[in-house]
Amino acid sequence: MTDRQAEIRGAFDAAAADFTALGHHLWEPIAAAAVAVADPRPGERVLDACCGTGASALPSARLVGPTGHVDAVDLSAPMIEQLRTHTDLPQLHAHHADVTTWATDGYDVVQSALGIFFFPDMTAGTDHLISRARPGGRVVFTIWQGDAMAPAGRQLGKAIAEVTGTPQPAPRPPHLIDRVSQADPYAAWLSERGLAGVEVTVHELTLTMTPELAWLVVVGSGFRGALATVPAEQVEAVRETYLESLRRDGLTELDATTLIGSGTRSH
Ligand SMILES: C[S@@+](CC[C@H](N)C(=O)[O-])C[C@H]1O[C@@H](n2cnc3c(N)ncnc32)[C@H](O)[C@@H]1O
Repeated sequence: MTDRQAEIRGAFDAAAADFTALGHHLWEPIAAAAVAVADPRPGERVLDACCGTGASALPSARLVGPTGHVDAVDLSAPMIEQLRTHTDLPQLHAHHADVTTWATDGYDVVQSALGIFFFPDMTAGTDHLISRARPGGRVVFTIWQGDAMAPAGRQLGKAIAEVTGTPQPAPRPPHLIDRVSQADPYAAWLSERGLAGVEVTVHELTLTMTPELAWLVVVGSGFRGALATVPAEQVEAVRETYLESLRRDGLTELDATTLIGSGTRSH
C-alpha cells in the first residue's frame, strides 16, 4: 500500500460512523442517481468498487435480488464491517480489499461512486475496473463536477491553520481529475478507456450548510483526514472557527453536483 492509500484509508476509517449520517444528505441521493443509470436487473452480477458503507451497493443488491450477486469492495475495514450487518441481503458480499487489484471479472455491471479519483493512478485503476466487466457489460463511474465540495475543504484547511498556528495547506498538486471534471472532457476520457456508447449525466445537488450539516461534511467524509493532525483539545476550536468562517464568507450552500459517466465494455 502506498503512503497516499494509507492516508485515504485512515481518513475513511475514522469517518465510518459519521459517514453513514452524512450519507442521508449526500452519498445516498448521489448513489441512487448512479444506480438508476447502471440499472442492475434481477440475477445480474455487480462489482461495486469503493463501496463505502453501501450507498450504491445496498440498492444494487436489492435490485439484483436473491438470484443476483454484488461484490462490494472497500479499503476501509470499519466501513466493510458496517456493510456486513445487512444480513437480510445474502446476495451482498462485502470485501475489505484494494479494488485496483481485484481479480474476479465477468461482471454485468461495474460501478464506482466517488471512488476512482482516489486511485494512486486514476487511469490505470479505472482501466482495471473496466476490465472486470464482461464484454457488453455496463460500466458507471461517478465523480464530482468541477469545484463541488472543495470550498468546504478550503475553509477547513484555513481554520486548522489558524487554530493550530501552522502554515496554510499548500494547494493540492495538479491531478487528472482537474482536467476531466466537466461533462465533455469526462466523456472523452471515458471513451479513450475503450468504453462504447459513453454518456455523462449531470446530477445536481446542493447542501444547505446548517452548522450541523457543515460539520458533518467534515467528520463524515474524506475531509476528516485533515483533522488527524489536530490535537484532540483543539478540535472544538477548529469546528467553531470553520463554522464562523462559513458565516463570514456567506457560504450557506455547498455545491455537491456529480457527473455520472456510463458506457459499455466493447470487447
Ligand atoms: C467518498 S467515498 C464513497 C463511498 C461510496 N461509494 C458512496 O458513494 O457512499 C470513497 C471510498 O473509496 C474507498 N477507496 C479509495 N481507494 C480505494 C481502493 N483502491 N480500493 C477500495 N476502496 C477504495 C475509500 O475507502 C472510501 O470508502
